[in-house]
Amino acid sequence: MSRMEFLKSLGLKGASLFAVYCAASGLSSCVNESMEPTLPPGTGGNANELNLDLSTSAYSKLNTVGNYVIVNSIVIARVSQTDFAAVTQVCSHEGRKKVYFKNGEFYCPEHGARFDTSGKGLNSKGSKGIKNYATELTGTTLKVFL
Ligand code: FES
Repeated sequence: MSRMEFLKSLGLKGASLFAVYCAASGLSSCVNESMEPTLPPGTGGNANELNLDLSTSAYSKLNTVGNYVIVNSIVIARVSQTDFAAVTQVCSHEGRKKVYFKNGEFYCPEHGARFDTSGKGLNSKGSKGIKNYATELTGTTLKVFL
């Protein structure tokens, strides 16, 4: 019987089991793989969409044209008074997770790939384009459709 199985047999489960297991193991790198990544307050949604509340401090910068945030490896930018754009942070050139929003377009600093706000490549490094996501603003909630 493993240590984990033994602790489960004592009736421990969830966070309690994880805490006891990690403390007993003395593992400095103990990771609870069952836990979801922590998202900032103001983040909601489901498997098909991400909902960002732009009235919260985590996302209020999206109320200003030219700003962007990165949530769950998606770069979400305010591209005009009325429009947003969202693309994956993973560059299509060599897969580096470095894409961000700069000067009205998406950019990867690794080798200089450039993409327009719809994900279309703007130079040879960005020629494959990049996955983009539809967005919709309702009130102060910005939906990103995954
Ligand atoms: S990995 Fe992004 S430009 Fe090469």
